[in-house]
Amino acid sequence: MAYGVAFTHRSHSVQRASARQLKTQEKYGELTALANQLGEKKSPLTEMTHSPTLRSNKQRTFATMFESPRMLVDTAKTEPGSVCYQAPSNIALVKYWGKHGVQLPRNPNASFTLSVARTITELAWAPKDHDNASRIQLELYYDGELREAFAERVRTFFGKLTKIYPFLEQFAWTVKTHNTFPHGAGIASSASAMAALAACLVSLEEQWFEKLSTETYFQKASYIARLGSGSAARSVFAKAAAWGTSTSLAGSSDEYAVSIADQLHPSFQDYRDSILLVSSAEKSVSSSAGHGLMDNQPYAPVRYDMANRRFTRLLEILKRGELDDFCTLVEADALDLHALMMQSTPPYILMEPNTIAVVNAVRRFRESSGLPVCFTLDAGPNVHLLYPKAIDLQVNDWLKSEIAPLLPQGLIYDHVGEGASRARLPEFKITA
Ligand code: PMV
Repeated sequence: MAYGVAFTHRSHSVQRASARQLKTQEKYGELTALANQLGEKKSPLTEMTHSPTLRSNKQRTFATMFESPRMLVDTAKTEPGSVCYQAPSNIALVKYWGKHGVQLPRNPNASFTLSVARTITELAWAPKDHDNASRIQLELYYDGELREAFAERVRTFFGKLTKIYPFLEQFAWTVKTHNTFPHGAGIASSASAMAALAACLVSLEEQWFEKLSTETYFQKASYIARLGSGSAARSVFAKAAAWGTSTSLAGSSDEYAVSIADQLHPSFQDYRDSILLVSSAEKSVSSSAGHGLMDNQPYAPVRYDMANRRFTRLLEILKRGELDDFCTLVEADALDLHALMMQSTPPYILMEPNTIAVVNAVRRFRESSGLPVCFTLDAGPNVHLLYPKAIDLQVNDWLKSEIAPLLPQGLIYDHVGEGASRARLPEFKITA
């Protein structure tokens, strides 16, 4: 079984947490706006490498590349139907933290694509209800339950895509979605959710218009996923992906991620990621608020420079199978991410006491066993434990005896996996 200990029911505490979270996010938004008004200067390095004029030509090229006013269909001749795709979550090794423009990364970043933690999404179309004035008509069900807040996020996402897919305004859409990981486990689902939706849309384009080359299919799915959630750009690819322009990776781009699967040494091809669920509490500061706070972060230029260099080194490590250096680099990048949060204005902490306890236990275990086991962290308290498949048994024994007591929500045994693909949604009764 993929999941360890049972998950607790928490609907009331979630409602309270959401109201609290909203207030905190408003507060952070105001503070960031205030800092902007006060004119806190961006560093010359940030200005230079991310100058809008330097980038605008490229942005225009890409907008033109995918904009397609001809992608309209004859609604009278189009029967209602649906497509269904799944996409996995991913775990970043060098993190994307800080963005600009239309969801463009401040530094190149790279991740392993996961397998067990996935989103399965069905996208159905039917004639538009013309009494309804909305440009994008869409409703969304999660495990058969109507979810208005999530629906609104997808309407906004589709609204951004109407120049690429004008047919989005021609139908009434129903999204039915399911995560394979337990709801409320504290695992961010936006990467898998947006990548699954992007795969549905590009497949629909192929169904209604013409077949794309495999390369264009993935490039376009990644580009579209990025507009929904930055890290989602990487989730469409099998095994490993990189997003963000770097001179060390030919073909890399800020606009979409590219596969780096063919650059992985065999030791990394089936790498393990056991997700240690330290806490399922909702984050006090969302990722988008966190990205925003990087704009006035005095250490941001140093971070972007360091992340660029780490990205280059990571590619070498992945190619050569240097497991010890992998541990050193990946842990350093995870701790930098959280150090940046603690250095923001205002500062915040997403790690919990048990995050630190697990991190220290991982380091002790590595020291005493000599095994290449390391941790990374996303923007939250949970710990991702990364190690080669060959040491599965030793790691599992240690996890059960020493780490399980620190994990009230259990753990998910995940591993490097296969990217987005066609899928079938499990049956759920609709409860509107
Ligand atoms: O895609 P977002 O906006 O949820 O940001 C993801 C940020 C991290 O998960 C912390 C890092 C990453 O590269 O995935």
